[in-house]
Amino acid sequence: MEYLVMLPGPTNVPNRVMNAMLAPMINHRSDDFRILYKAIVEKTQKVFQTSNDIVLLTTSGTGAVEASVVNLIRKGDKAVIPVNGEFSMRLADLIDSWSGEAIRISSPPGENPPYDKFEETFEKHKDIKAIYAVYNETSTGTTIRYMDKLGELAARKGAYFIADAVSILGGDELPVDKWNIDICLTASQKALAAPPGVAPISINKRAKKYMQENPPPTQYLNLKRYFKYYEEHYETPFTPALPLYYAFREALDIVIEEGLENRIRRHKICADAFYAGLGSLGLTPFAKPDARSNMIIALNYMQGMDD
Ligand SMILES: Cc1ncc(COP(=O)(O)O)c(C=O)c1O
Repeated sequence: MEYLVMLPGPTNVPNRVMNAMLAPMINHRSDDFRILYKAIVEKTQKVFQTSNDIVLLTTSGTGAVEASVVNLIRKGDKAVIPVNGEFSMRLADLIDSWSGEAIRISSPPGENPPYDKFEETFEKHKDIKAIYAVYNETSTGTTIRYMDKLGELAARKGAYFIADAVSILGGDELPVDKWNIDICLTASQKALAAPPGVAPISINKRAKKYMQENPPPTQYLNLKRYFKYYEEHYETPFTPALPLYYAFREALDIVIEEGLENRIRRHKICADAFYAGLGSLGLTPFAKPDARSNMIIALNYMQGMDD
């Protein structure tokens, strides 16, 4: 059956990826699994442009977002976060509810706060532990275009830099190592065009050391356990969603075959075409021009029209 989805995610999944899920169940404590897992990790590193460790969670994106908080934030830790929509609001609330202190740098939906506000905030607070940023705020079609500067600032101030790249990784620029991103997380069902259910996270040496020395009082999202199983056995600590792993490997192959640069260019060309053509349909984009996403085109409502 043909079905066209027009959501940020799940996006339309190529048949080749769907068919990959028909592979037989395997023992997830066997060499067959280790080969699969190793291949996924290596391909994920290519797509993330990183040599960091990769952890694969069998969760949707929220599992990875939550893992980035519970493994890094401890009572009273300050974390700066630009807030301009649903997902950045949720993340800030999560930091607070996990007993951290989210320092929100707010801007109207559809806009990003000026970069200088981050420098000012670091001047005001000398003990900031982390910058969390939702790179592409899905709810408003808004992309932060100074992620590289946030990474540089965090590195200069000795803070961690965490990127929620759920709705952008695989479709726009995101060189994780070059931009000094300590923890970068995404989900399978958006720009990577795989079914939902796998959430990859890259974690650099510094963040990994912290997590190993300060494991959270949780089981499923305790990343120390993932490092241990990965290093000792090339396995996951808990049962992985095997059919989704097959699909995810196939989806990564498609990204690599197309080439990351070509894929990013394709999204940019399509986005430019949409933004250019909307006016003639009587539609206007929601986000301000310098913050518009190439991944998600959010529109203002026309009069008399709702969702
Ligand atoms: C930026 C962002 N972060 C987090 C999430 C949560 O991901 P999930 O719905 O896969 O749990 C989403 C979902 O749309 C998102 O767009």
